[in-house]
Amino acid sequence: MLEVCEMEQYVIKGGAPLRGEVTIGGAKNAALAILAAAVMTDDTVVIDNLPDVRDVNVMIGAMEDIGASIERVDRHTVRINGSKIERLSVDYEYIKKIRASYYLLGALLGKYKSAEVALPGGCAIGSRPIDLHIKGFKALGADVDTGYGLISARADELIGNHIYLDKVSVGATINILMTATMAKGKTVIENAAKEPHVVDVANFLNSMGANIRGAGTDVIRVEGVERLHGTEYSVIPDQIEAGTFMCAAAVTHGDILVKNVVPKHLEATTAKLVEAGCKVVEYDDAVRVIAEDMQLHHTAVTTLPYPGFPTDMQPQMAVVLAVAEGTSTVTESIWDNRFKYVDELARMGAQVKIESNIAIITGVDHYTGARVSAPDLRAGAALVIAGLAAHDGITVVDDIYYIQRGYEDFEVKLRGLGGNIELVDNEHDLQKFILKVS
Ligand code: UD1
Repeated sequence: MLEVCEMEQYVIKGGAPLRGEVTIGGAKNAALAILAAAVMTDDTVVIDNLPDVRDVNVMIGAMEDIGASIERVDRHTVRINGSKIERLSVDYEYIKKIRASYYLLGALLGKYKSAEVALPGGCAIGSRPIDLHIKGFKALGADVDTGYGLISARADELIGNHIYLDKVSVGATINILMTATMAKGKTVIENAAKEPHVVDVANFLNSMGANIRGAGTDVIRVEGVERLHGTEYSVIPDQIEAGTFMCAAAVTHGDILVKNVVPKHLEATTAKLVEAGCKVVEYDDAVRVIAEDMQLHHTAVTTLPYPGFPTDMQPQMAVVLAVAEGTSTVTESIWDNRFKYVDELARMGAQVKIESNIAIITGVDHYTGARVSAPDLRAGAALVIAGLAAHDGITVVDDIYYIQRGYEDFEVKLRGLGGNIELVDNEHDLQKFILKVS
């Protein structure tokens, strides 16, 4: 399951509106943190609604590598026991595949007062500092060293503290939260991230006996506990997977009922799609996006920490706006290099100009199919939905292993909505598809 097949491509014949129902899986980014936190008890923990995506499987590999026992109950459920952890050191092999394996640092430091993780480098969407994680660990009494490609943290005793995060960071909030859960006394995290997955991690830790209040607000308060116990927990639905299908409905002028979601988590995406001219209907645990025969309009989008518009939805939204009437702007305020897909989108006919962190998009009538490469996970998904909207030609998306990091059965779900998309791994199948659709 871990091997990367660089030959795999998506081949797409676009033009048909996507219609029907799609069911959203568990949130990748919540799952990664919850898995790491599961080793903080010696009891057995059962986690379900895990998405079967590459990042989650790499995380499971990293945990097995340090000695956690992990049993797959079914495709979306694992049983984890962290009582026999024998190494407090996470290898570069994992961190280079998923930065989120650094969540094991916060988890192991909390439980064993010592941990070491290879230092993550930059990545496709920009430089990714971890100074705030380190600031938090130090405030809790740990000595933190970086060097030799490693970040090591250790403490004789972890003691709760008041920690102000200079910038809203999902990763730092979650990492500090995990460590603080097992520190002595009270910790207050100020300017904490409020993302739904931060709340999910806090709920998970509380279900193991932690004492965390305020998750989902700017101020999280933690009363440390000595030990955590086993639990059974179900991961929240993935707001980004859901948002991607919402944008797919918009850009193909379709009508999709996106099921198994928390509509509140999707509000920013919903608001922007409504501004762009779509109709969005919210149900208890579903949203329906209707764009059939509707003209899409320009709008302005700025990425911000939750409840602002998510940076992980930025490329998908840009793909919608690039075929909307008028001039739109998309401002990226979280990452410094998240417009790499724009040149690929231009190959499909989009007109986009980048000025520092703003994409200025002049809407065109429609996309045309082209051969493009996924530059990263979300931009890759965005190119796929652009391909499904393309009126003429065939779109071939290369480097789809990025997409497989975060979308389970992406092409299967899209086909279920009427999308003409195939995953191919050789030239023969690629030509066969092209022949079939032309
Ligand atoms: C998580 C998500 C990622 C998403 C991002 C923002 C996971 C696995 N990944 O990443 O998909 O795009 O949230 O919603 O959950 N920063 C610092 N110092 C730090 C940490 C962060 O300056 O120590 C800065 C970053 O450079 C960035 C901003 O804070 O500009 C937000 O980063 P952060 O929220 O930490 O992102 P991740 O948790 O890495």
